Amino acid sequence: MSRKKILAPSILAADFKHLEDQIRTAVSAGAEYLHIDVMDGVFVPSISFGMPVISSIRNATDCFFDVHLMIQDPDRYLDEFAACGADGITVHAEAARHLHRTIQAIKNKGLKAGVALNPSTPLSVLDYVLEDLDMVLIMTVNPGFGGQAYIPAMTGKIKALREKADALGLDLDIEVDGGIKLSTIRQVLEAGANVCVAGSAVFNEDIKGSVEALLQAMGETL
Ligand code: DX5
Ligand code: ZN
Repeated sequence: MSRKKILAPSILAADFKHLEDQIRTAVSAGAEYLHIDVMDGVFVPSISFGMPVISSIRNATDCFFDVHLMIQDPDRYLDEFAACGADGITVHAEAARHLHRTIQAIKNKGLKAGVALNPSTPLSVLDYVLEDLDMVLIMTVNPGFGGQAYIPAMTGKIKALREKADALGLDLDIEVDGGIKLSTIRQVLEAGANVCVAGSAVFNEDIKGSVEALLQAMGETL
């Protein structure tokens, strides 16, 4: 089955002085999701931004807001992220105390539910929740910073997850995040990912050209 491929630029790498312009440029060049990285300085070493930034950019575009919560005990903030304009919320399996409950809470808000796995976290943590999920995010770097190098061992993990989902007959999106650029995007798509996050590979001196080049590479991959 050929699954829809989506590019999700991560605004973490944007120039925040020009955030609205940069978002508009990426979206008009063909990006269908905006990937929004929220970091709490506890689950990951760094702190990024939160609800006020998301609410203010909500007016700039109607594209899908793919909110990646790198925060400890995400249940505490699901209402607020839903209210500020998230279309999908992804929580880390390592950060949620009662993962099944968290997933149900996201779905009960009418949002797409995703679970992210750090590179060292096995797929087996999803065994009893996979059928409830819209998306699994395979971290292809350790979360916390943009601009890191893709971890090659993640290609096999993506492939194993796609095989598992196919065996169960699930219509699952597999998102990859970290180190995705022209030199790595083909291998993740061929392994079975279909939603590609790209931060530094998009928000650089040529946003339009970068989005177009990534989309072209995605289109050339079966
Ligand atoms: C890392 C974030 C990523 C990051 C990706 O913790 O989850 O979304 O923005 O950045 P690049 O594409 O530069 O590796
Ligand atoms: Zn992310």
